[in-house]
Amino acid sequence: MEFAQHLKAQVDIVNVVSEYVRLRRIGNRLTGLCPFHNEKTPSFSIRADHQFFRCFGCDAKGDVLNFVMMIEGITFWEALKKLAEQNGIPLPKQSLASDDTTKLRAALYEMHEIAADHFRENLFGNAGASTRAYLKQRGVTEESVHQFGIGLADSGARLQRLLEARRFSKEQMEASGLVGRREDGSLYDRFRKRLMFPIHSETGKIIGFGGRALDPDEAAKYMNSPETEIYKKSQILFNLNRAKKTAMQTDRIVLVEGYMDVIGATQAGVVEAVATCGTALTTQQIRAMKRHSQNLHLNFDPDSAGTKAAARSIDLLLEESMRVRVVELEGGLDPDEFCKEHGAETYRARVDNAKSYFYWLADRARGKFNMRDPLGRTDAFQSLLPAIQGLGTEIERYTVANDLAGYLGVEAGLVLQHFKKMAADRVERRPLPRAELTAHSTDRILLPLLLQNDDARPQLVAALRDMTAPRMGATGPLYVTIMAMHEAGESISFVTVHERLPEGLRKLLEDIVLKDDITVATLEDGLACIEAWRRESQGEAERDLKAQIRQAEREGRFDDALRLMTLLKKG
Ligand code: UTP
Ligand code: MN
Repeated sequence: MEFAQHLKAQVDIVNVVSEYVRLRRIGNRLTGLCPFHNEKTPSFSIRADHQFFRCFGCDAKGDVLNFVMMIEGITFWEALKKLAEQNGIPLPKQSLASDDTTKLRAALYEMHEIAADHFRENLFGNAGASTRAYLKQRGVTEESVHQFGIGLADSGARLQRLLEARRFSKEQMEASGLVGRREDGSLYDRFRKRLMFPIHSETGKIIGFGGRALDPDEAAKYMNSPETEIYKKSQILFNLNRAKKTAMQTDRIVLVEGYMDVIGATQAGVVEAVATCGTALTTQQIRAMKRHSQNLHLNFDPDSAGTKAAARSIDLLLEESMRVRVVELEGGLDPDEFCKEHGAETYRARVDNAKSYFYWLADRARGKFNMRDPLGRTDAFQSLLPAIQGLGTEIERYTVANDLAGYLGVEAGLVLQHFKKMAADRVERRPLPRAELTAHSTDRILLPLLLQNDDARPQLVAALRDMTAPRMGATGPLYVTIMAMHEAGESISFVTVHERLPEGLRKLLEDIVLKDDITVATLEDGLACIEAWRRESQGEAERDLKAQIRQAEREGRFDDALRLMTLLKKG
């Protein structure tokens, strides 16, 4: 599609991806942890020169549009629209409204904007006075109210009527989750008499709400938007849209339980705080955080529900190779309450100095075993072994085991003994097998040159044409394709050639061109490569001829031998 090309020419894949993934530059390549599968060391790589990403672990790959589609879970049209809007590129009007899902989602986004405005107006209107007082009494600053877009849902069906007036259909209203339908078919506002917290997508669109009851007698303290076409609870973290920037800079992210905790932490200067929205932490949410930082400071409520949730979350976080610290706050206070009671500075210090989750686990173990008895201490220590075993390296495991033994008052000799046994039992974890590199080193010079260097290409193609024996082997078809495209006057780049190739050859091209760090080769380097090939293939032809001559001589076919010898001399 024309517009897609036009857009891709103006949008840099590096800028787009770095909104989602913490990247490190190595030459002309950027690498990071792959957002599409679980890994500890980066195999995700972007080439700015080719405007292409590729993960060598899970084989995810593509251009900027593919990336946005995959990471946002959206359609091609939506990805186009999103990138166009973000980059101020005007959309061609007719073509883009074609897709039903896209249309519905656009309506839902619009309804959420309208709802958020409506809730804010309520809060700042006359009817909002007592709610404003409530916020003030809870220590929520006016700045926070604006920053988080906090509002008020009043009673009745005012939002529903407002949406109706804006010509949204009943179906659209119901699909938004903002409106419910009674048995008799009439519609009503789902959120009533609640303090409203907008929930944003990672890129900052309002996709749902969390509503806190203002009436203390209300059975459900919080009510959240239901799942809709734009709101998938298991994928979303409250405040990630704001937190991600700082999370990337400070390389840590703070996970709390509630909306008010995020607000409290933010007011205390811990702005890289996010929360789940009333559900258990999921793998998808962990991966969303991990794209910004691998270091997680867990700060759940100290009550029993929070402790259970923390234990469960830690397991899941470790499975996803996050480095976990646990923030401990005394007095049974949640982050929001702690900030109010002890002040911002104390809270920040607690977050900064949070200890590895091991100590938190050890503290749980202390409570479960009789620590006055040496056997009890040993049992406590042993209950931690599975977690220790999950650690990355031998050194780490040993260091942590010793630390914990000291912490629990277990003899060091015992640690060593357990540790040796553990090491013996451990199954070696092997790295993922990587695609074999079948390419010759000359391919790594020539192919990038042919793809990128418009000035060198004509001469290189000519030199390749001059080679008497066509180059065989695995990479042969790549050259044949490029040469054919060049001679047909087609535009040549990594993407255009890649598109032209069958799947097997695409992989080969990726392995050669994308995997290596950049080497800036010149036309001369390229010609030297071709010359080396020529000599090599000539050498092969010569050896072949000589063998044939010897054979003919042995068999007494002297005429043949003579004919072959003249061929050899001509060379
Ligand atoms: P909490 O009950 O700890 O609320 O629930 P909180 O954040 O401390 O709020 P305040 O201080 O009482 O106002 C933590 C989170 O769990 C979800 C909400 O996301 C809430 O922020 N939750 C809680 C629900 O979804 N439903 C509920 O009924 C309660
Ligand atoms: Mn609270």
